[in-house]
Amino acid sequence: MSFADSKEVAERNRRCDFTELARMVATSFSLGSGSVHGPSHWRRVERNGIWLAERSGGDLFVVRLFAWFHDSCRVSEWTDPDHGRRGADYAASLRGAVFDLEDEGFDRLVYACTWHTDGEHSDDPTIGACWDADRLDLGRVGIDPSPRFMSTAAGKEAAEVGHSFLSPWVNP
Ligand SMILES: [Fe+2]
Repeated sequence: MSFADSKEVAERNRRCDFTELARMVATSFSLGSGSVHGPSHWRRVERNGIWLAERSGGDLFVVRLFAWFHDSCRVSEWTDPDHGRRGADYAASLRGAVFDLEDEGFDRLVYACTWHTDGEHSDDPTIGACWDADRLDLGRVGIDPSPRFMSTAAGKEAAEVGHSFLSPWVNP
């Protein structure tokens, strides 16, 4: 089987009910629906991530999963250095039940979640789109997103021009 064929087979076997995933993750989130790291943030990260991945060549499916898992296991609005790793573990626990994803895509999801607050930049278009999508939503806590901290060209451009979707009050 060629590389292109194996990639097609892997993608055919992907599945996720994102509505159900959003419900489950929001229900188990300990900081509640009003959290600055909670469901409204995840939805904006998903919107940002789709916008970025379409422009960077990133994997939309992985970026959407990142949006819902990356902060899902935070237990503090402030310091919580292991929350990305716990979010990745939570994703592993729901893999095969709420969503299906081949190993290569899942490894990217785990990496993006685990290192999203520590990793500076990534050359990988999928991981870069995940991290930029999160950082472009910093306006919600009064911080202007900086192009310096963006990995993708689209992320830098959005931060530079103050793209209209950067407003935390736009509900996607
Ligand atoms: Fe986040």
